[in-house]
Amino acid sequence: KRPAGAPDKSLARPVTKVGIVGAGLMASQLALLFVRRLEVPVVLTDLDQERADKGVAYVHAEIDKLLAKGRINQDKANRHKALVSGETDKQVAFGDADFVIEAVFEEMSVKKTVFADVEKVVSAECVLATNTSSLSITEMAADLEHPERVVGFHFFNPVAVMPLLEIVKGDATDDATLATAFATGKALKKTSILVKDSPSFIVNRLLGRFMSEVGRIVDEGTPVSVADNAFAGIAPMPPFVLLSLVGPAIALHNNETLQRAFPERFYVSPALERIVAARKPAYYGPDGNLDPE
Ligand code: CAA
Repeated sequence: KRPAGAPDKSLARPVTKVGIVGAGLMASQLALLFVRRLEVPVVLTDLDQERADKGVAYVHAEIDKLLAKGRINQDKANRHKALVSGETDKQVAFGDADFVIEAVFEEMSVKKTVFADVEKVVSAECVLATNTSSLSITEMAADLEHPERVVGFHFFNPVAVMPLLEIVKGDATDDATLATAFATGKALKKTSILVKDSPSFIVNRLLGRFMSEVGRIVDEGTPVSVADNAFAGIAPMPPFVLLSLVGPAIALHNNETLQRAFPERFYVSPALERIVAARKPAYYGPDGNLDPE
């Protein structure tokens, strides 16, 4: 059955090579997923070779874990490992790619620059996907020569296990791009839903509301550990454990985006700002409070 809002799948273009902009943890998780499910060459890129190689090393290590667990055989492990590479030269990395996804810093100007650079080296039909968790797809595509090939492709942490994929259509996104995104989501074995191009889409808007209230509870004096324990049994992960998984800076950015868009409904917690300023995961002090030291 066709997902709601998805165009006819006959419009989808084949994906024979995937390029990834960034080689951090999210980008590396994406590389692992793409190589396992699509079994096509996947190139991770970053500002220097060391970072790109680190991303490749992560994918190789995860493949080794699957092998050790008996999930895949040696043959498959070798094949998948050989399909992943790290590059710094965009022309080499993306010149023959038909699907490029960016997973760089969550900042509009950075993402716009990345897409402008990528557009110089890819074919006119190459899909430019963004894993942004909150920013406007329409705005990100606005200055490109081919804004019709930009689409939001938003995964959740941990990418290997979370089943959902938010696909976001910008004002200019055409049906062939959207159909390719849905076909790719299916090949990746994710449940794809079409969401509106609005701040933080659906999941992070809900999560932002939740984190606003958790932040208020802590700012009113409840220890972090108590807030976390209160959720044991009703959520798969307590809020501050989730915060550590997602990355406090991403969560803060999400709440800032939402507060700008809907000031009356979202709250940027000083506790969250303190966690981000400490540049550590959300953690407990000796008394169960935030300990920024
Ligand atoms: N990476 C890869 N695999 C992982 C993993 C990780 N970080 N954490 C757990 N897993 C795998 C385990 O290996 C295990 O797989 P197998 O059964 O195949 O061995 C499976 O997940 C279940 O793990 P566990 O039994 O150890 O743990 P669990 O039952 O507590 O489940 C969880 C783990 C699925 C992550 C669960 O805690 C959960 O659903 N947490 C909520 C996560 C969530 O809400 N994510 C969305 C965050 S928002 C976001 O990401 C949006 C954004 O843009 C910032």
